[in-house]
Amino acid sequence: MSSRALAVLGCSLLLLLWGECQEREKPHKAAKKKVATEPKLNELRPPKATGHQRQPAAAKALKAKAQVKAPVSPSQVHPPVSILTQVVAKGQFQKVLDSLTLAAGDTLELRCRGRSVRWRFPAYLEDEDEGRLKIKHFERYSQLLVLNATAADTGEYSCWAFQCRDSACWDREDRTGQAFVFFTDPQELFVPTEDYYEVVQLRTNHPTLLPCQVTSPGAQVTLHREFPPEEVAVDGVDISYDVKRGFVIHRPQPSCAGSLFCMASLGGVRQISTKYMLIYINYPPSAPKPTVRASATTVGAGENFNVTCTVFGEPEVAVDFTWEYPGQKIGRPPYVRECADLARRGGQVQQESESVFYVDEARAIDEGLYTCSATNLQGTTAVSTRVRVLPASLARRGARSG
Ligand SMILES: *[C@@H]1O[C@H](CO)[C@@H](O)[C@H](O)[C@H]1NC(C)=O
Ligand SMILES: *[C@@H]1O[C@H](CO)[C@@H](O)[C@H](O)[C@H]1NC(C)=O
Repeated sequence: MSSRALAVLGCSLLLLLWGECQEREKPHKAAKKKVATEPKLNELRPPKATGHQRQPAAAKALKAKAQVKAPVSPSQVHPPVSILTQVVAKGQFQKVLDSLTLAAGDTLELRCRGRSVRWRFPAYLEDEDEGRLKIKHFERYSQLLVLNATAADTGEYSCWAFQCRDSACWDREDRTGQAFVFFTDPQELFVPTEDYYEVVQLRTNHPTLLPCQVTSPGAQVTLHREFPPEEVAVDGVDISYDVKRGFVIHRPQPSCAGSLFCMASLGGVRQISTKYMLIYINYPPSAPKPTVRASATTVGAGENFNVTCTVFGEPEVAVDFTWEYPGQKIGRPPYVRECADLARRGGQVQQESESVFYVDEARAIDEGLYTCSATNLQGTTAVSTRVRVLPASLARRGARSG
């Protein structure tokens, strides 16, 4: 690997760590793809999961607004009747089967039958403020319009009916509809993204998605390695391609790591996708093993103390911390600082993740058990330590005699 590539890789590692810290603080914004986090195994399987890269934010927004559950995969019980139709011309409707292909510049008009209907669409459209997306609810149906569509609007559109009674709402899982809509653009064979490259984590035993989505279902798509330049074999078993999602690496190996990109060709035009910087992560097979330590087991009232929770683990594997503490009872907000650093330990580079819980000017209420729970994708482990708070007078006497 050239030194430049190494430098880029180094930077992306930093970005990655930074990204993880950011994520804890606030939910990330929809269309701004930063770091491609790994989809969960079950998200990769069902037909429902199409375009999931851009879905979670939209789903969250819907939840926040209406407190409805995300629609459950319709294939779970009986195949329900789709409530979705496409309006192809004035007064002319067409049943939507799985996918639709329109051209960039066209108008998409979808309708879903029902009095109360919600929609899900590529999150990109939600952030876009040119007013190209319009949703109107009528007595017996709901209408979704995308005006002057662009290649970037390509993705999954779905709707579902819901019912409300006494301020409680629930989804009608038997009344849904979904369609993947391609907006073909001879200039944009790939759905445009904001980033020149994306960092993708390859984890042991976790399928990984390279989301190079095409805007035309007829495009021929191949996968390529940058250094050394070569085409990557796509056998449909270890690596497969889905025209609505991109390439899936089913069993990541350390040898998959490196810089990859997709190439699409259609009608004499050839384009390459965003570059994917694949970083292999040896994901631990178990939950984190935290240790917890208070700066003092006994403090005097009015003194400051802190409790530190530490996890040593694989680099790049995010650990989330939560605390339970005595002051919770009276609603005292936690004051916590977290950081993660690479440390060399026994000849191996490990990540030291730390969460420090601070108590300023301890009071009697702060006496008790401090419990730190550390979580990774494999599970949660909790550890506790007890801190005693002595009344100020006793603490002073103790200090004088000691
Ligand atoms: C759609 O495009 C037409 C023609 O270019 C333009 O006049 C119109 O304002 C556009 N509408 C929206 C909502 O962008
Ligand atoms: C925790 O408190 C001790 C004693 O007050 C102090 O020396 C130490 O620096 C604190 N630790 C952190 C991480 O702030």
